[in-house]
Amino acid sequence: MSRSAHPAGPRYADVLPEGHYTAPPADLNSLDSRVWAQTVERTPDGSVTVGGLDVRRLAEEFGTPAYIMDETDFRARCRAWRDAFGQDADVFYAGKAFLSRAVVRWLYEEGLNLDVCSGGELATALAAGMPAERIALHGNNKSNEEIHRAVEVGVGRIVLDSFQEIARVAHAAERLGRRQPVQIRVTVGVEAHTHEFIATAHEDQKFGLALADGGAAEAVRRVLMLESLELTGIHSHIGSQIFDMAGFEVSARRVVGLLTQIRDEHGVELPEIDLGGGLGIAYTPEDDPREPHEIAKSLGDIVTRECEAAGLAVPRLSVEPGRAIVGPTAFTLYEVGTIKELEGLRTYVSVDGGMSDNIRTALYDAEYSVALVSRASDAEPMLSRVVGKHCESGDIVVRDAFLPADLAPGDLLAVPATGAYCRSMASNYNHALRPPVVAVRDGQARTIVRRETEEDLLRLDVG
Ligand code: LLP
Repeated sequence: MSRSAHPAGPRYADVLPEGHYTAPPADLNSLDSRVWAQTVERTPDGSVTVGGLDVRRLAEEFGTPAYIMDETDFRARCRAWRDAFGQDADVFYAGKAFLSRAVVRWLYEEGLNLDVCSGGELATALAAGMPAERIALHGNNKSNEEIHRAVEVGVGRIVLDSFQEIARVAHAAERLGRRQPVQIRVTVGVEAHTHEFIATAHEDQKFGLALADGGAAEAVRRVLMLESLELTGIHSHIGSQIFDMAGFEVSARRVVGLLTQIRDEHGVELPEIDLGGGLGIAYTPEDDPREPHEIAKSLGDIVTRECEAAGLAVPRLSVEPGRAIVGPTAFTLYEVGTIKELEGLRTYVSVDGGMSDNIRTALYDAEYSVALVSRASDAEPMLSRVVGKHCESGDIVVRDAFLPADLAPGDLLAVPATGAYCRSMASNYNHALRPPVVAVRDGQARTIVRRETEEDLLRLDVG
């Protein structure tokens, strides 16, 4: 089959929706450091290495598709967040982005705390030895079992999300004879500029108690009356994949406003505020995320300024980055299968995974980059759509990308920045076997989550 390159030109403007790539990059072989993990490099022979290991060797040893995680980068990002926020603040990694026992140990060693949002995440954290006092439990519908277990093991914080939950947590703590530290999650009414499904601070949604209708203030009254609960602070998470710090500033200001109101009404100064996670990362070179030290400075300054203005002691700040830590540290390695050219439109490049290992493109219209990593190529750029092997036309991994026109079955492609919300949202759709997570560091690779097998699938199917 011969596949000609589509000439770069104005006709792409008709094909590509606004905001997507409109021209091929100058060099298809270059790997932009904004989207690739720290130790990823193109070698002189044209292939790509991570942690000093050739991706072709990784594909041979671990198979494809596989999530390849750069442990050096993960640890460096943990340290960058830790150092940026310093000793007067806590960084809780949001486990929903990606959690495994190895990751919990890295977090522990790098001095981070952990936010979990389910019994399963709590069990993983405890199994890996994270001290309970460094764990926070979230969720809008925690079960009684989850609450009981969290109180029993002594988690450092439960973030209360509703009136009913106040009663449930108080009940569990009373039964266990504990005084449970809690925060109250509030919705501050900020419109975060992100996809509707990942914005969480407007009032019309399931999370938290609103500042605007007095729900948050009423929750504070109720919690303060309960002996078994120790109210330590207020929590706000405004959404995800956010670049503009303005939303966080409004959130910080409104949370400090509530702290002031609590001091005036109850004579109590709460010692903590948590501003959640949600900091954006670069999925394509067009994205321009803030560095942890800029984020820390901006949040620290606004909290300090607002507290000073209100005459409040500055509370201990915490943040909950998930994506910003793990997202950039991994890429998904795929093998190219069927290639189908649609004359005058684009070329469909099928890979051996798809929406079962990355649902984000289908679900949020997320954009990703992609590169040929098993060799370099000086062929013409070819407008491509990287699709999976599932039985749906929405099974798209990368909607618009330029790949070399000599791409052939058997080549390896890598999609960067898939460390967050890809393995953790992976499914068995079409009975796909979820890919492994392979951690690479200093020339060593090891599986931290193994590939599923057909036996795994059949084990759940009890006939
Ligand atoms: N804290 C709370 C209370 C959260 O709900 C979340 C994310 C985070 C922290 C971490 O947010 P991050 O820093 O990772 O953005 N599946 C979606 C993202 C959903 C995020 C849910 N909560 C996605 O793939 O974009």
